Amino acid sequence: MSKPRLEGKVALITGAASGIGEEAVRLFAENGAFVVAADVQDDLGHLVVASIGSHRATYRHCDVRDEQEVEETVNFTLEKYGKLDILFSNAGIMGPLTSILELDIQGFDNTMATNVRGVAATIKHAARAMVAKNIRGSIICTTSVASLLAGTGPHAYTVSKHALVGLVRTACSELGVHGIRVNCISPFGVATPLSCKAYNLEPSEVEANSCALANLKGIVLKAKHVAEAALFLASDESAYISGHNLAVDGGFTVVNQSFSAI
Ligand SMILES: NC(=O)c1ccc[n+]([C@@H]2O[C@H](COP(=O)([O-])OP(=O)(O)OC[C@H]3O[C@@H](n4cnc5c(N)ncnc54)[C@H](O)[C@@H]3O)[C@@H](O)[C@H]2O)c1
Repeated sequence: MSKPRLEGKVALITGAASGIGEEAVRLFAENGAFVVAADVQDDLGHLVVASIGSHRATYRHCDVRDEQEVEETVNFTLEKYGKLDILFSNAGIMGPLTSILELDIQGFDNTMATNVRGVAATIKHAARAMVAKNIRGSIICTTSVASLLAGTGPHAYTVSKHALVGLVRTACSELGVHGIRVNCISPFGVATPLSCKAYNLEPSEVEANSCALANLKGIVLKAKHVAEAALFLASDESAYISGHNLAVDGGFTVVNQSFSAI
């Protein structure tokens, strides 16, 4: 039997109580990692780790907007497991769906505080822990097709996800000398509480809309597919990949949907 892909690795996952993060907690643990699952939805987070088992996963409350909570969560991981190999900085919000003419500035700030400043805080503290222990770690962030194309999400969301690509590249440029890789994943629309609540739709309706717009037909994008991309970037199979924005979008962002040459 082949060795589990994350055998002996320690991973911290934010936004771990639901959707893509929850799938990643399960997949990383199945693949041999010890996982600290961090989120603000404590009841859900505890349920996720209980269903996996305390020998593999632990829940920790962490609001990524609060740098002190982020630092404490990284310290908790080090105290519990002795090191940190993988950060999957995945927590994010969609924010308000308003026109630029009616831009909700407070909502804009909150989206940036969660999706950009929050991720920056997780990279800062996780990378410090990796550097201090000479760990050739892997840092992965969840961006979106909205990091590559406008018109696929609300304004603040699109700004925040574009900014995350810059954050990933600049962190990659500094951390390469330490052997730390930094990448991001850009999913197309997935039915999770984030997308369902934002558009007030059932999961089946979100999936039907995504399938109608998708380039790649005959498959429904699930949170598990995105978690599998994170597993690849977390594992040694991606040993020389850094600074990359991996689109999990079935080609959506490289095809002009409104034009056909044939
Ligand atoms: N669902 C999609 O269609 C889609 C597409 C592209 C990218 N994404 C991105 O995927 C990531 C995960 O989203 P999801 O779709 O799984 O949604 P989700 O709502 O199921 O999960 C997001 C999790 O993040 C947590 N969270 C929110 N704010 C937080 C904070 N301040 N601190 C800590 N945790 C916080 C939530 O409690 C939730 O559990 C997000 O970054 C999102 O932008 C989602």
